[in-house]
Amino acid sequence: MRLPSPRGPVTELLLGRLVRPPDGHALPLDVAGAELTDPDLQLALFVCYELHYRGFQDVDDRWEWEPALLAARAALERRFEEALASAVPRPAVEEPGGVRGALNELVAAAADPSLSKFLAQQADREQFREFVVHRSIYHLKEADPHTWAIPRLAGGAKAALVEIQSDEYGGGRRERMHSELFRATMRGLDLDDSYGAYLGQVPGVTLMISNAMSLFGLHRRLRGALVGHLAALEMTSSLPNRRYANGLRRLGGDADAVRFYEEHVQADAVHEQIAAHDLCGGFAAANPPLAGDVLYGAACALELERLWAGHVLACWESGITSLAEGAIGGVSAVRTGKEGPDVAFGA
Ligand SMILES: [Fe+2]
Ligand SMILES: [Fe+2]
Repeated sequence: MRLPSPRGPVTELLLGRLVRPPDGHALPLDVAGAELTDPDLQLALFVCYELHYRGFQDVDDRWEWEPALLAARAALERRFEEALASAVPRPAVEEPGGVRGALNELVAAAADPSLSKFLAQQADREQFREFVVHRSIYHLKEADPHTWAIPRLAGGAKAALVEIQSDEYGGGRRERMHSELFRATMRGLDLDDSYGAYLGQVPGVTLMISNAMSLFGLHRRLRGALVGHLAALEMTSSLPNRRYANGLRRLGGDADAVRFYEEHVQADAVHEQIAAHDLCGGFAAANPPLAGDVLYGAACALELERLWAGHVLACWESGITSLAEGAIGGVSAVRTGKEGPDVAFGA
């Protein structure tokens, strides 16, 4: 992956520095007052985090642990965490034994099937392609952010997380890795399946979803939020994925293209149980002071997904693309003739 284009003064400064070797000079990034979905804030954070995943072809790998970069990233994270705290009320702290029930209540209260129903029944092929482009930011590195928690857990919670992640990584078979299944979905829709191909074309609200996982994953203090986040993803996956599969089949998707969604109907019905009971329940029992964090992480996952789905549907209802810029292969821009708002929601 190569560095994307800047999206404002913060990324202008950051990306301009990253193309040169680290030189020890400070990297002052000012994001005071930035909204939760601000594309400049979210892209800057995404780029900082990506240095811990696969990096960029045009960035010196030594930037990953460069003190000036870490200080700049900390400033971005402070703003992100503040905006997140304003957008997502902290659920009442439960007794550790009540975590599973509280997760069920959060998930039930958050259920909003409108996007998955739209994709199942009404979306045209270009809208489905847009949906896949948004999702590619996470699905092409599916499971990686939650894997950061493995060395930070112990006992039953660790075993549960490894069980889930093993499935996500295909149980040792490359062709069954969920990220590989998603690449087949992208190819079936004539999209570029290379890692990060669409980083420059998604809005801040999409980057925010991935950044929340990386934030929780890269800070041990937030490990409770990370396991709650994973549980919320798994608990809200099966039914929407069935609808996505139906939608893609309706639009002519073949077996290879649809397999990613079908796999999740089955796998996540199992993962949901492991995540809620063994992972989150086990973690809260072993770490009672962090039980509230588990619920907060789940609430963040649900709320950020709601904001993102609202953005996508609002754009489509207005007849404009939900992507940040231009087109996927020129098609969306031709269809809509104009760009969608980069920021649909703020905190
Ligand atoms: Fe998966
Ligand atoms: Fe899963």
